[in-house]
Amino acid sequence: MEIGGTNVMITGGCGGIGLEMGRLFAEAGKDVVLVDAKIESGAALARDNARVRCVQCDLSSASDIEWVLKDEPADILINNVGISPKFDDAGNRVRTWTMTLDQWNAVMATNVTSFFLCTRLCLPHMMERKFGRIVNIASYAARTGGYQAAVHYTTSKAAILGFTKSLAREVAPYGVRVNAINPGRIESPMTRDVPKEVSEAIIPQIPAGRLGVPRDIANVALFLCSDFADYMTGTAVEVNGGLYVGP
Ligand SMILES: NC(=O)c1ccc[n+]([C@@H]2O[C@H](COP(=O)([O-])OP(=O)(O)OC[C@H]3O[C@@H](n4cnc5c(N)ncnc54)[C@H](O)[C@@H]3O)[C@@H](O)[C@H]2O)c1
Repeated sequence: MEIGGTNVMITGGCGGIGLEMGRLFAEAGKDVVLVDAKIESGAALARDNARVRCVQCDLSSASDIEWVLKDEPADILINNVGISPKFDDAGNRVRTWTMTLDQWNAVMATNVTSFFLCTRLCLPHMMERKFGRIVNIASYAARTGGYQAAVHYTTSKAAILGFTKSLAREVAPYGVRVNAINPGRIESPMTRDVPKEVSEAIIPQIPAGRLGVPRDIANVALFLCSDFADYMTGTAVEVNGGLYVGP
């Protein structure tokens, strides 16, 4: 399996899934930049691995993205950042009928608009080189409504599937492939904000008999960027241990 390109940019790169993708692409010989608001966990990986760098950036801010990332020449872009707020400041579940516009907009800015802005930043370089790979991390919540997720999160992930299809058609003639991954329930900091027993209560519904781990997603991201996936663009790969097997 050959992976083209040189520079990989992973947004939300210091979280559970992002960090594992960074590790795997670095093992594959790529130069990796992990973009995140909190870079501590990525900094530990960067210390041990000369191929990995961390860049601190608030991906919910258009001006931060444009300023901080303007000189990053990524030919592989993994749009991975995501937030899934389930509780308000008082500890109550976020419900559609109590959700504020600010809460809604915060999720859209991070989970959707950052994907557009980072893509827009990277595309001219990819198109000029006639080579680019973009992987958008969506969610099985886009297919099912999710397990514990609130409506803003599920909506944002469904938007990413449309973004992936439309963009894939637009940039295919320029040698740029665009695909999405819909992770199922993956053990990471994101899923640790619900009690362990709630998180594990879903396991009997997973035919594979276990929660996913970040490596399950990283492996598929690497595959999608490889020549083994050369004829794949505009698709979404379900990586969920059989939790969702619908159309
Ligand atoms: N874990 C799961 O079960 C699961 C399931 C389906 C989809 N996903 C998706 O996978 C992706 C990665 O999730 P994860 O499980 O690794 O989550 P995570 O919470 O471990 O990592 C997310 C990272 O994004 C960073 N981040 C959040 N807001 C930011 C901002 N405004 N600017 C910069 N960085 C910011 C966080 O600091 C964190 O490092 C997300 O898009 C998520 O929606 C996860």
